[in-house]
Amino acid sequence: MRSKLIVGNWKMNGSHDLIENFYQSFSLPFDEVDLEVVICPPNVFITTMQNLFEGSGILIGAQNVHSENNGAFTGETSVSLLRECGVNWCIVGHSERREHFGDTDEIISRKMEILIRHKIRPILCVGETLEQRESLSFEEVVVKQLRVGLSKINNKDLHKCVIAYEPVWAIGTGITAEPKQAEYMHKIIRKELLSISSRENAKKIKILYGGSVNPDNVGSLINIKEIDGALIGGASLIPSSFQKIIEYY
Ligand code: PGA
Repeated sequence: MRSKLIVGNWKMNGSHDLIENFYQSFSLPFDEVDLEVVICPPNVFITTMQNLFEGSGILIGAQNVHSENNGAFTGETSVSLLRECGVNWCIVGHSERREHFGDTDEIISRKMEILIRHKIRPILCVGETLEQRESLSFEEVVVKQLRVGLSKINNKDLHKCVIAYEPVWAIGTGITAEPKQAEYMHKIIRKELLSISSRENAKKIKILYGGSVNPDNVGSLINIKEIDGALIGGASLIPSSFQKIIEYY
């Protein structure tokens, strides 16, 4: 049985007031041993949040990493710098990075490899655009993102990776995939994982759903056996909404 994982992605949002608000009003149901909660704020808040949330059960992750370990890459953050801040989780290949910052599948595969090498668990985002869904190439697109993204990871490390299926047309749009659509894609992803890894390892890999998850629709997704948790953008910026989502799990 895979434990559940909820990841909040604050993207380029947040403030000291929001952090304080979260700290005051947000708490984990303590007996919930089968649930892990990670918040990924902008990098400038990582250390503050690590210190504040230490011992609370809430873990702090990053939203991105550079594919090189150090060097003259102004404005970038390396895996060593994330380790310095005590980060254990990192989102990789989010569709906004793919669209606006040139993150190709090949670059993403290098980021995956460097994270695993430095013992940070990657959350690999995959998902099709609306155009790809309408042209019926969505399965092929997602399978390729998955295959290339995981291509530099050894079989023995694969279970440390988390996959987030995030249809691009559902991100920040208020449109969630129908439970049946999400279930179908999660099955495709699991099938692909089984084909590239040993059965034992493939079964351990968590697959999250992401795309306009909120307290009103999480109930319909949570009961789907293939969905091991959620990657949440907008609703993770509202402590009461994030709390409600967690309480469903
Ligand atoms: P959303 O974002 O929940 O606001 O749709 C999800 C994501 O981008 O990971």
